[in-house]
Amino acid sequence: MSNLCGIDFGTSNSTIGILKDDKAKLVNLEGLSKTIPSAIFYEEDDNLTVYGRNALNYYRENYNGRLLRSLKSILGTSLNNEKTFIRDTRIPFTDIIQDFFMHIKQQAEHIEQTNLDYAVIGRPINFVDGDDIKNKLAQDTLERIARNAGFKDIAFQYEPIAASLKYEQSLTNEELVLIIDIGGGTTDISVINLSPKFTNIKDRNKHCLANHGVHIGGTDFDKHLNLQSIMPLLGYNQSIGNNMIMPRHLYHDMSTWHRINNIYTPEFKRSIMQFKKSLDPIYYNRVLDVIEDKLASSICFTVEESKIELSTDISVNKDLSFIEHSLNVDITQDDLSKAINNDLQHIGITIDECLSQAQITRDDINSIFLTGGSSQMALIKQYVNSLFPNTKIDNSDSLSSVGTGLVLDAINKYK
Ligand SMILES: Nc1ncnc2c1ncn2[C@@H]1O[C@H](COP(=O)(O)OP(=O)(O)OP(=O)(O)O)[C@@H](O)[C@H]1O
Ligand SMILES: [Mg+2]
Repeated sequence: MSNLCGIDFGTSNSTIGILKDDKAKLVNLEGLSKTIPSAIFYEEDDNLTVYGRNALNYYRENYNGRLLRSLKSILGTSLNNEKTFIRDTRIPFTDIIQDFFMHIKQQAEHIEQTNLDYAVIGRPINFVDGDDIKNKLAQDTLERIARNAGFKDIAFQYEPIAASLKYEQSLTNEELVLIIDIGGGTTDISVINLSPKFTNIKDRNKHCLANHGVHIGGTDFDKHLNLQSIMPLLGYNQSIGNNMIMPRHLYHDMSTWHRINNIYTPEFKRSIMQFKKSLDPIYYNRVLDVIEDKLASSICFTVEESKIELSTDISVNKDLSFIEHSLNVDITQDDLSKAINNDLQHIGITIDECLSQAQITRDDINSIFLTGGSSQMALIKQYVNSLFPNTKIDNSDSLSSVGTGLVLDAINKYK
């Protein structure tokens, strides 16, 4: 069937891949780019809805409206059934994800001049850590969304297994491989036997020794760097007298993409205003400006940019004059390392748990496929290298391996 596809709906970026000329091919969803940021902007003056890079640009160019990002993170959580205000109407978060799904499906169909009816959709091992009921809710929700978007048949595949199918194409011998996919929202790990001889086998379950995952990814690194380097300038961890500090959850909401819209509500503003007398006015005025002028997303963009630049630069200086005249901040590699240290340890524990589920040790692994956008971080590469100093690590295809693997899986399933 030529109208099959693989969909990698990522926390930060998405892809759709199809079968073309007997090969798996990712569609150039935006210009020459195969990835589209998983972002929607609902513009309010002209009722325009824009997606991907356009959505980010509309936000940056100060159009009036709402930017939504990291929507995959709501699946299976308490927000799964919640609504949010879009143009004065309360809309379920799942309808917003559906808008995005329909957009990428129609875009791919238009560009490739084909109908896409059959989809293998990637899913993390854990949408919600260690909770089978919530994980089922998340997958069922995604299936309903895909069906409403017009797909006739839908199957799911674990994202690291999909990545492994892409990696397998580069192998010449059988290998026991550890797949580590560190994306925007989750880290997903599989231990799997791969071989060029296995590529036509339909059911790969018997080759897979273990799957494991944890809800830690690039957006957590951003959040923790934000809390470490920028939120203190708005009062995070600052005293409010009587040996008390500002409530931390307020700052967690301000630095978490999928919660940011909560902070522009009257209730949130009231919860800040109660500290008018107890918080130093320098911080109080800044935090109030951030919520009144809706600046939290700009802060998150600045932090993500810093994180990426800190893979090559020892330190960066960031202009925060959009918050206060001539405000700026220095952020160093050391700050980033401290901010994400707990996350790294957690990832390390999850890797070891996956190995023990597979009943093997680190030494049994022949090679590692380290993929996902966050695997481009120098600190991540160093960390994985320190756990496996003698093992070959392949770090290619960090943004396209899951999407391409999902098409390979769809070919196996539907062709
Ligand atoms: N050069 C880079 N250095 C550091 N981080 C990067 C770099 N490029 C991208 N990232 C980060 O990678 C993350 C996105 O990766 P990716 O596109 O693989 O995630 P995703 O597939 O959307 O998420 P998930 O699979 O977790 O749902 C973002 O957090 C982004 O900041
Ligand atoms: Mg991913």
